[in-house]
Amino acid sequence: MCGIIGYLGRRPVKSVLLEGLRRLEYRGYDSAGVVFFTREGLFVHRVKGKVLDLDESLGALEIRGEAPGLGHTRWATHGEPSEVNAHPHLDCTGEVAVVHNGIIENYHTLKQELSKRGHRFVSETDTEVIAHLVEEALAETGDLLEAVKKALRQLKGAYALGVIWRRDPERIVCARHQSPLVLGIGEGEVFLASDVPAILPWTRKVIFLEDGDLAVLTTSGVEVFRLGGERVGRPVREITWDASRAEKGGFPHFMLKEIYEQPEAIRDTLRGRLDPETGRVDLSDADLAPDFFERLAKIYIVACGTSYHAGLVGKYLLEKWAGIPVEVDLASEFRYRDPLVNDRTLTIVISQSGETADTLAGLRLAKELSARVLAICNVLGSTIAREADRVIYTHAGPEIGVASTKAFTSQLTVLLLLTLYLGQISGRLPEEAARKLAAELTEIPHRLQTLIEKVHPRLRELSEKYFRREDLLYLGRNILFPVALEGALKLKEISYIHAEGYAAGEMKHGPIALIEETVPTVALAPKESGILYEKMLSNIEEVRSRRGPVIGFGTEGDRNLAALVSDFVGLPAVSWELSPLLYTVPLQLFAYEMAVRRGCDVDQPRNLAKSVTVE
Ligand code: AGP
Repeated sequence: MCGIIGYLGRRPVKSVLLEGLRRLEYRGYDSAGVVFFTREGLFVHRVKGKVLDLDESLGALEIRGEAPGLGHTRWATHGEPSEVNAHPHLDCTGEVAVVHNGIIENYHTLKQELSKRGHRFVSETDTEVIAHLVEEALAETGDLLEAVKKALRQLKGAYALGVIWRRDPERIVCARHQSPLVLGIGEGEVFLASDVPAILPWTRKVIFLEDGDLAVLTTSGVEVFRLGGERVGRPVREITWDASRAEKGGFPHFMLKEIYEQPEAIRDTLRGRLDPETGRVDLSDADLAPDFFERLAKIYIVACGTSYHAGLVGKYLLEKWAGIPVEVDLASEFRYRDPLVNDRTLTIVISQSGETADTLAGLRLAKELSARVLAICNVLGSTIAREADRVIYTHAGPEIGVASTKAFTSQLTVLLLLTLYLGQISGRLPEEAARKLAAELTEIPHRLQTLIEKVHPRLRELSEKYFRREDLLYLGRNILFPVALEGALKLKEISYIHAEGYAAGEMKHGPIALIEETVPTVALAPKESGILYEKMLSNIEEVRSRRGPVIGFGTEGDRNLAALVSDFVGLPAVSWELSPLLYTVPLQLFAYEMAVRRGCDVDQPRNLAKSVTVE
């Protein structure tokens, strides 16, 4: 997610913009820039690098400047990290400047139309089209607010944006749709920001804009409008958080914030790629077309840790609906064995960071062996993303917590898109099934939001009961077996409790020897899983008959399961293919609450790094 700061008032505009950007650095970014007024016109300065580089290079220029001004830290989604792709972006006249956070889905079309009308583009970003749309609208309206409204009506997608115009030095116009934007109200000064921390040094009075809001900022205050034109009132709130808490959006830890961000991350990862009516998948933003998948004999999925678990889920999906054999391998194993990879193999490498050493080595080995390599990655321009033949980006935004959460469910989302895509081009996935799956997948962000809010208190309660335990077993079957592995990994890496994920059918082959009163078992048993549900009930009986406590996660209202287990957590009914998306999140929350109760450093667990760039 990008960071935005805007200022209008008497303070030195450069220092306000730089300080605001410094307070947004925690969000992760690859480039930064500012724009402000000077006597000669709008002055724009951008760097590929950090705010410190921006500060130093600005200082060397000895430019004073005055408000209004805008600043931006960019988390690249469209267009490599570079100075030319950094924000702010200008129109052809250099008199309109825009900073933006979000994804404009229809920017390709808009850019083509604007280019045909003579507009000259300098960047690869989606954002730049906004500056040229405003330029055109200003030529008609001569008013910045009306021009921004006119431009927004042509956009599809998510945006939080700030716009200034050289001929209107008294105003900043901003707008918000599915990407956060907050206004700060001072004495004779106003601020805009993508997040509260950026404005805390100067004011604690804020207005949170809502989707579809526009606002006009002047030194005498703020006016909020709807896109339709009507004026609306938004309450001015007092922020009581300290700066550290504010960086986490009011959450105590980045990990919890990122767990709660998963509905938005899934929505952003789906954006522009799935037609819920037809089930049709468009992967053209990854430059993917059916010919890339021709003559495929086998798929290897290569990854580490949580990304490996996502790959295991992918195996179940792709084998069922794409009808291609899938082998999932730990990258650290794949790279040192002799995998039977050739030009009829597709190797999918999954990596949140795009820098994991073992996964990168696996990618390079696959390419040496003539395989086609497709990356699923969360960081644009990362090494893995650059070296793969194609890359499908998750749009989870920066994941700060070491324990991966929103990146995992975003990876699952991409694997579901790929399954729908390959299932349809192979003809193996019937139209009706594709439509049903696509419609249900589109609803997942909303259902997940409801689920998180509903089950979190229950999991907090369960953590009170179990946080002193030193060993837990996680059991799942079929597509929920990888979810059991992931749930166990989450618990062990942040609470330091020994936890093992196991295929439930393996109980009799060893793990059952571990069962006793002090070893709780987490069992994933959705009622919708048919015969596997009955098998899970038998496995739970085996544990209960040896006095092992069982925490059962299943379909809400399932009285059979509830009666069988020591503690029951009900989840909404969900299709087999989508069950990992729903069943993972309660396990993330359970691990989080257990770690908090054990006083662990949830965001930076001992011995762990966010990206393992060494072997
Ligand atoms: C997951 O919570 C861990 N942080 C770790 O297992 C991680 O998934 C693994 O290191 C792979 O990282 P990547 O996705 O960035 O390649």
